[in-house]
Amino acid sequence: MRCLLVTGGCGFIGSNFVRFMLEHEPAIRLINLDKLTYAGNPKNLSDLETDPRYLFIKGDICDQKLVKEIFSDEGVDAVVHFAAESHVDRSISGPAEFIQTNIFGTFNLLEAAREVWLGAGRGKTSRFIHVSTDEVYGSLGEKGYFKETTSYDPRSPYSASKASSDHLVSAYFHTYGLPTLTTNCSNNYGPFQFPEKLIPLIIHNARHGKELPVYGDGKNVRDWLFVADHCRAISMVLKKGTVGETYNIGGNSEKQNIEVVDTICDILDEKLGLLPSSKDRRSLIRFVRDRAGHDRRYAIDATKIKEELGWEPEMDFETGIRQTIDWYLDNSEWIADIVNGSYRQYYSEMYENRS
Ligand code: NAD
Ligand code: TYD
Repeated sequence: MRCLLVTGGCGFIGSNFVRFMLEHEPAIRLINLDKLTYAGNPKNLSDLETDPRYLFIKGDICDQKLVKEIFSDEGVDAVVHFAAESHVDRSISGPAEFIQTNIFGTFNLLEAAREVWLGAGRGKTSRFIHVSTDEVYGSLGEKGYFKETTSYDPRSPYSASKASSDHLVSAYFHTYGLPTLTTNCSNNYGPFQFPEKLIPLIIHNARHGKELPVYGDGKNVRDWLFVADHCRAISMVLKKGTVGETYNIGGNSEKQNIEVVDTICDILDEKLGLLPSSKDRRSLIRFVRDRAGHDRRYAIDATKIKEELGWEPEMDFETGIRQTIDWYLDNSEWIADIVNGSYRQYYSEMYENRS
């Protein structure tokens, strides 16, 4: 039975991926290494605790001893590396953790893989999938798409730290022959996303009649990818991807932020009725001070993964956003636990006095 190490498996995409793999791949054993930062929630996977094919290890990818022990003692054959500090706004107010986890943590995993895999002559059978972002390519104008060949131009501390990690991963392939692959995906949405990100934040606030902060003019564009489509893409890269290659993964679903916010408001009005004031939820929208260095538009050209691996997104945004809203409405305890914790202070620091 092959052993897959997933890092950051208690986060948003990681927990969806862990579930996806245990459901679809009966012949794997899966280890989830997660530090449980503010973004990691073990409850996302609590129903898997008794699954004999699943092992959770609470730990830091920057811990050299622990990571090497896991590689050698558990016989890790493949890594899917999600663990990261992932929120652009937090990287602006405090970049240090991003440098530590995203750059040093990735380096530490690569070193363990190099020592254990290459030392044992397992360079051909192993795989190291590094999950990265389209933000490494910078910002697009009204036209054009990010291709795998687009030059890197990261503009936030978050994207710069991910770009650095991408370069390290590529260097380990070219220099040592480590069997690495990198995926660069667009903005994900779906169940279990932490409510610092646009879609769950707006769903939560709109549901409870709170103001809806839209940065700048609301016309920044993101290409929305449903998380289940993303998990399927990564599993295909793991199985069939060519080592040393990069694959862009996009949702084929470009939207201005204001369109996303309007859509969420309208669906919630339809499902829950108007606000107690008899106003609709669009009345809660507030255009607030823009994010520093806010990238204008991201859009992915996913031709390569379609042609080489046969992957395409299956979920259209209109269906995906309804499923996502239903998930948040059905899981009010999950979100309440978060917003009643340290999130409160984060929210007030980020949004109070931001008009
Ligand atoms: P997330 O913030 O929801 O989860 C990150 C997870 O990593 C958490 O469980 C956290 O506890 C864990 N973690 C953080 N630091 C760690 C450390 N030092 N050691 C071990 N675990 C640690 O992130 P996400 O949205 O699920 O993103 C997963 C990956 O996908 C990230 O690498 C991110 O850069 C990338 N990505 C995300 C998106 C998106 O839209 N969410 C888009 C493109 C790329
Ligand atoms: P976010 O979910 O933080 O993802 P990213 O910055 O990685 O793209 O933000 C998505 C878009 O929504 C981005 O253009 C910033 C904008 N945004 C708001 O307008 N208001 C908000 O409260 C947040 C969190 C984001």
